[in-house]
Amino acid sequence: MKNVAAIILAAGRGTRMKSDTPKVLQELHNRPLLSFLIKTLDELDVKEKVLVVGSENKDIKKIFKDVNTIVQKKPLGSGDAAKCAKSYFAGFDGNLLVLCGDTPLIAKDTIERLVKKHINEKASCTVLTATVNDPTSYGRIVRDSRGRIAKIVEEKDLADYEKAIQEINVGCYCFKTKDLFTHIKDLKINPKKKEFYLTDIVGILWQNKKKIVSNSCTDSSEFLGINSQIDLAEANSVIKRKVLRKLMLEGVMITDPDSTIIDMDAVIGKDTIIYPNTVIGKNTVIGKRCKIGPFARIRPGTELSDDVEIGNFVELVRTKISSGTKVKHMTYLGDTSVGKNVNIGAGTITANYDGKKKNKTVIEDNAFIGVGSIFIAPVRVGRGATVGAGSVVTRNKNIPPRKTVVGVPAKILQKERRK
Ligand code: UD1
Ligand code: MG
Repeated sequence: MKNVAAIILAAGRGTRMKSDTPKVLQELHNRPLLSFLIKTLDELDVKEKVLVVGSENKDIKKIFKDVNTIVQKKPLGSGDAAKCAKSYFAGFDGNLLVLCGDTPLIAKDTIERLVKKHINEKASCTVLTATVNDPTSYGRIVRDSRGRIAKIVEEKDLADYEKAIQEINVGCYCFKTKDLFTHIKDLKINPKKKEFYLTDIVGILWQNKKKIVSNSCTDSSEFLGINSQIDLAEANSVIKRKVLRKLMLEGVMITDPDSTIIDMDAVIGKDTIIYPNTVIGKNTVIGKRCKIGPFARIRPGTELSDDVEIGNFVELVRTKISSGTKVKHMTYLGDTSVGKNVNIGAGTITANYDGKKKNKTVIEDNAFIGVGSIFIAPVRVGRGATVGAGSVVTRNKNIPPRKTVVGVPAKILQKERRK
């Protein structure tokens, strides 16, 4: 986007979250809430993006190192937060998107349309609005007799006759940078909330005969503002539904979407079946025709090839499994690499953590692992080897190909497996 920069307001205390974690760092779908908006702005390729953060929110700077930050010393409202960016943009003559860090789901296309309209209309300010059945807690759009936006009024300040207004302020604006910062000094502190409201700038621009236009957003999930744990849960379920829908459209069978959670970055091949109560984390790849669950947990760094079966109460993390392998009952595999056509018996555990570091287990093709086996990593099971039920395979006691081991600690039986 040429000549368009962006400010994300993220310095609010988020008191309604009732949490010690800053609102914009609350976890939404396995990542900080703020990362959604930052990703969207990256995709839009804005000229520059700046985060306004609170003085106590040092963690935000640490997490988003690549984004410039400006500190709002005291949380004196969204208007004051925007004012903090004034000197930063002193020489900038373009358009400025102002977004609320707590509105993570606004789509790229929606912002693109807003900016396009703003430029085409040569507007001073373009406001993203939506018409909703229940406008409670949102700022309302008040229009003049000619239908132009005259001001935005916050819930607490609504006159009785304004309460019926169903058009709300989404909290996403595009300004002519000069107009915003020329008039921002005229904001007055709101007597009820003791904050400077950014939304009041709209009324000020209207009084100064500046052109204010709007664009509407019809997808109600996009303008969900996260102000409480209830809103956060709603945003989580919105994302969850979108992710599952996309996967189902790509040919993945999800037998019980209500109880299934799949990360938005997970890659899953067609004709794979996901059974109920399965959780699939980020940075995971699952091939075609796999069967996963019920009650399976596929954690980050896991890659499953085609035709793999993962059954109930199986947890996998940083584990690679090749095609045709079955891990069907009550098993934990961490930092493990499993070859083709391996059978992992019920209750198998890899002890990957020795108290200091994580160690690897390798189980080669065609191995047969009996129930209740424990592998103390690092250890390797050779091709076609058999591990008897209840064995404890101790660290570095690698099992040669086709050999059988049994016992605690596991020892090699002389008989070779034919495979
Ligand atoms: C705001 C809008 C409201 C809109 C709604 C959409 C204002 C005054 N009202 O209300 O019209 O319908 O969003 O979700 O803006 N912030 C700071 N510093 C502060 C205070 C807030 O950076 O001192 C940031 C917050 O981190 C947040 C944004 O400004 O990202 C909006 O603040 P918030 O308190 O969430 O306002 P809402 O009541 O949600
Ligand atoms: Mg908010």
